[in-house]
This record gives sequence, structure tokens and C-alpha cells, in this order.
Amino acid sequence: MKRTAVVTAGTAGIGLETALGLAAAGFAVTVVGRNAERGARAVSRINGAVPAHPARFLPTDLGSLDEVRSLADRIASHHAATGEPLTVLVNNVGAMFADRRELDGVEASFVVNHLSPYLLTELLLPTLTSGAPSRIVNVTSGAVGLGKRVFDSVEPPGGYYGFHWYGRAKLANLAYALDLAGRLDGTGVSVFAADPGGAATDMTNGTMTDPRIVSPALRLLWPLVRRTFRKSTSGPASVAARPSIVAATDAALTGRTGIVIGAQASPVAPFRAATDPRIARAVRRLSERHAPLAAP
Ligand SMILES: NC(=O)c1ccc[n+]([C@@H]2O[C@H](COP(=O)([O-])OP(=O)(O)OC[C@H]3O[C@@H](n4cnc5c(N)ncnc54)[C@H](OP(=O)(O)O)[C@@H]3O)[C@@H](O)[C@H]2O)c1
Repeated sequence: MKRTAVVTAGTAGIGLETALGLAAAGFAVTVVGRNAERGARAVSRINGAVPAHPARFLPTDLGSLDEVRSLADRIASHHAATGEPLTVLVNNVGAMFADRRELDGVEASFVVNHLSPYLLTELLLPTLTSGAPSRIVNVTSGAVGLGKRVFDSVEPPGGYYGFHWYGRAKLANLAYALDLAGRLDGTGVSVFAADPGGAATDMTNGTMTDPRIVSPALRLLWPLVRRTFRKSTSGPASVAARPSIVAATDAALTGRTGIVIGAQASPVAPFRAATDPRIARAVRRLSERHAPLAAP
């Protein structure tokens, strides 16, 4: 049976390396990104390695929940029409913003890092379930430890600091993934989180050089913080993609679910707050309110 994989933000950085790894493992890979030229380049790079199945590109701005709904429609219709299972969904998209901004009226880091992958996953659950055994892989980050653990509303109290807000949105997404694993237990759909550690990519070469992304206390130590960031994000994206590839393909994970694959590409204990059922419940309420499955 043909195995298929969708990798969001799969045209560059860690996502492209993940797509290359999955194509090499025999998957028919679909990469999603905004930029058509980058999409074409990614497809030709993947296909240049002569995989068992050619890759394809689907253009989508994953910062737009309307576009996420259309993407889910296209993917679900494709699988319904071809009868091919959707074997793996890698929710790789993520972004950090130096300045607070909104997308369709909702704070952007919460949209891109949590609401968008949440919505795509929920809309594709029927397709993933009918293609079971299948896997969902949500790309997480070590930054989950630095966000405020308050989820009464999309935005936490206090000032805007991009790195901390990114970490909090990633924490929401990790709590969602672990909660979803429980919800889907017994369906044949496994849910994993993968922590890439760090890599030099567009994301880290962009915002992580700007002191405004950290809180005033950390800004006082900026040279030290900057050095730590530089060190932890200096590796190649191909290495940072290994946790996602392992989560998506490792036979040792068959039948298991709710596991975090750490930067060394093996299971690690989840960040504690992400297993707190109160946080999972609050995140679910926010997700349902701000990312309804049908367009409002
Ligand atoms: N790099 C690190 O050190 C690090 C560390 C921990 C966790 N992570 C996580 O790993 C994942 C990948 O990170 P990365 O560093 O590879 O990111 P990146 O450099 O920003 O990834 C670039 C890719 O993301 C796509 N993309 C960005 N925004 C998009 C949007 N709104 N809609 C569609 N595609 C979008 C780009 O496509 P276009 O060119 O078409 O926009 C491109 O394919 C993220 O979830 C990130 O949070 C990264």
C-alpha cells in the first residue's frame, strides 16, 4: 500500500529536510508552503533523489485559518478520490515575531504555532482515521519552558516578548498533542511531538538576533543570551529533522502514542506543564473558540 505524508512548511528549513527523509523512506510526500517558487524548488530537490513516489507542492498561507480549511479540503478530497491512505501528517509550521502582530484579528504566534496546526489536524482526523495506522507529528520546541502558563485568553498578561509568546504557543500545541493522543487511543492514529533542538534556518537567522524577543530581565544579559541562542541554533536542519523523521517512521513506535521525541531523536519525558489536564482543557476551549472547524 502506498504510504503518504504531508509536511507543513516543508519547502525550506527543517520541514524540507523532513520531507527529504520521508521521501527517502518511501513516502509520497506533499510539501506545503506559501511561496510557489520555493515550492517548485523543494519538489525538484526531493524528486532529484529519485524517490519511490514523486513529491508535490500545495500552496497555502498557514497563517490564514481560511486557507488552512481549504488545504484540509484539498487533502481530504485527494485521499477520498484516490483511496490512498494519509499515513503521516507532520505539523512542522512555526514562527516567531519580534513585534506583536495579528492575523485575522488574532495574535500571530498563537495562530501560526498552535491554531493553524490544531485546525489542520482536527479537519484531517477522518482522513487519518480511515488511513490508520497513521501518525500525527507536531513539531515542538525547547522554548515551551519560557512561556506564561496561563491560557484564559489568546494573549498572556504582561508585555509582548516574541520568544516567550512563541514558547507559550508551542506549549499550547504540545498540550493539545498529548491530549489528542489520549482522545485517539484505540483508533490506530498515533500522536507524537518532535523537538528538533536547534538549527540555523530562516526562523533562527531572523528573529533570534533581535533582543526585543526576550523579556527585559533577559535583555540585560543579551550578549550571553545571544551567544546561547547562536550556539543552540548553529547546527544543520538535516540533523534537526531527525526527531520528526523518527516520530513519523520508526517501527519501534508502532502502536505507541503520546510520546515526545527529543533532539537526540529518541523518546524523552514531556515538559510537565504540557501534561496538565487543566492546561489541555483551557487550550481546547481557546482553540474551539478561535479556530472553529467551519468558517464563521
Ligand atoms: N530552527 C530551530 O532552531 C528550531 C528550534 C526549535 C523548534 N523549531 C520548530 O521547527 C519548525 C521548523 O522550523 P524552521 O526553523 O525550519 O522554520 P523556517 O526556517 O521558518 O521554515 C521555513 C519554511 O516555513 C514555511 N513557512 C513559514 N511560514 C509559513 C506560513 N505562514 N505558511 C506556510 N508556510 C510557511 C516556509 O515557506 P515559504 O517560504 O513559502 O513561506 C518554509 O517552507 C517550526 O515549528 C519551529 O518552531 C525550530
